[in-house]
Amino acid sequence: MTRLRAKRHIPERMERCAGRWFSTPATNKGKWREVCGFPSDCELYLEIGCGKGKFCCETALNNPDALYIALERESSVILAAIEKAESLQIPNLFFVNSDAKYLDDYFEEGEVNRIYLNFSDPWTRKKKPKRRLTYRDFLKVYEKIMVPGGQVRFKTDNDMLFDFSLTEFKECGFVLSEVTRDLHNSEYDGDNIRTEFEQKFADQGIPIKRCVATSGKSA
Ligand SMILES: C[S@@+](CC[C@H](N)C(=O)[O-])C[C@H]1O[C@@H](n2cnc3c(N)ncnc32)[C@H](O)[C@@H]1O
Repeated sequence: MTRLRAKRHIPERMERCAGRWFSTPATNKGKWREVCGFPSDCELYLEIGCGKGKFCCETALNNPDALYIALERESSVILAAIEKAESLQIPNLFFVNSDAKYLDDYFEEGEVNRIYLNFSDPWTRKKKPKRRLTYRDFLKVYEKIMVPGGQVRFKTDNDMLFDFSLTEFKECGFVLSEVTRDLHNSEYDGDNIRTEFEQKFADQGIPIKRCVATSGKSA
């Protein structure tokens, strides 16, 4: 009942944070930096499936010169992220409440410097691999909207999804680095920012898998 009541107020609460998210993101295609009031040469980082926003809020606060766009398809979830960014008054973080399958409509070729995929849904049933955010059709779009040498930074708790993703990255011409199956006990944990799901899995003793996939696209 409480949950239903909270959900009923989503439009009003979204409206209260109107400057923080874009209802027609396709109109920003090719001009995100300009629309958000950032220099044309600043880095643009995109998080796909940002959940309740812990990662994008902390990362944006740590890197005030970069512009962050966080995408999440669940409105009740992204609302928490938007309200978090508002309460912290983070100037360089904006949101899009939509599905990754429309990315090509929202971003111009070569507009994005880096993509973060944190604890994406694994879609474990055999017939659903095309829904995984590291399925090759998604990787081709990421490569298109990223600059040459752009990076996808990927973290997961799920061994099957990690193995699947490493194969997909390689087959799509991405170059892999910083590959670890135990991030929190690795040399790459120094500046790692934990997401909500990451903290939950770490508390359960589940090792976190992580890699960086660099686009092989040439300039
Ligand atoms: C398991 S949660 C992880 C949330 C957060 N990244 C974290 O690590 O705490 C996955 C999130 O991705 C979102 N998501 C899954 N598929 C998506 C898609 N195709 N487009 C946008 N968001 C998606 C889900 O709604 C969910 O909030």
